[in-house]
Amino acid sequence: MAVLSITEESRKITDAREITKYLSGIGIEYERWDTEGLRVGEDASEEKILEAYSTEIDELKRSGGYVTADVIDVSPETPGLDDMLAKFNKEHWHDEDEVRYIVKGHGLFHISPEKGPVVGIEMEAGDLIRVPKGTLHWFDLCADRTVRAIRLFQDPSGWTPHYTDSRNEDGYQPLCFSAVSG
Ligand SMILES: [Fe+2]
Repeated sequence: MAVLSITEESRKITDAREITKYLSGIGIEYERWDTEGLRVGEDASEEKILEAYSTEIDELKRSGGYVTADVIDVSPETPGLDDMLAKFNKEHWHDEDEVRYIVKGHGLFHISPEKGPVVGIEMEAGDLIRVPKGTLHWFDLCADRTVRAIRLFQDPSGWTPHYTDSRNEDGYQPLCFSAVSG
């Protein structure tokens, strides 16, 4: 179950439909592709995962102009994990959309919308998020330090973070609520 947190309003939303509605209001697409368990094993090969979700991936490619899809694997054993995380846990934006479908583990996105308070979105297996290009955001792992996700790209070489240097992230704890500790 994803958890949406609005720190400024001391509010948490756990209902998927309410999360979708709230995020849609700030330009973020959120949906669940699998509501009752994944259709493929969380440790399946990249090829099998992309095949299992090919219908949704093709639809996203059509609607969002994405040209490639892959699966990123992050675990506590990933070499250089902290250095990798340090690139994304500060407020930044990209010249293209950030699209992630979680198949294993967890991830915590914070979105800083043009209007309204910062929202935290704790993602788990079965959750899709599309953060449009130019949207200010940052990303943290949860206690399991594990995430496997399908990514889609409009330009495979163009996914570089641009930092705001706002230190906005310092005001929000990278805390996950539903993740098991690991
Ligand atoms: Fe990002």
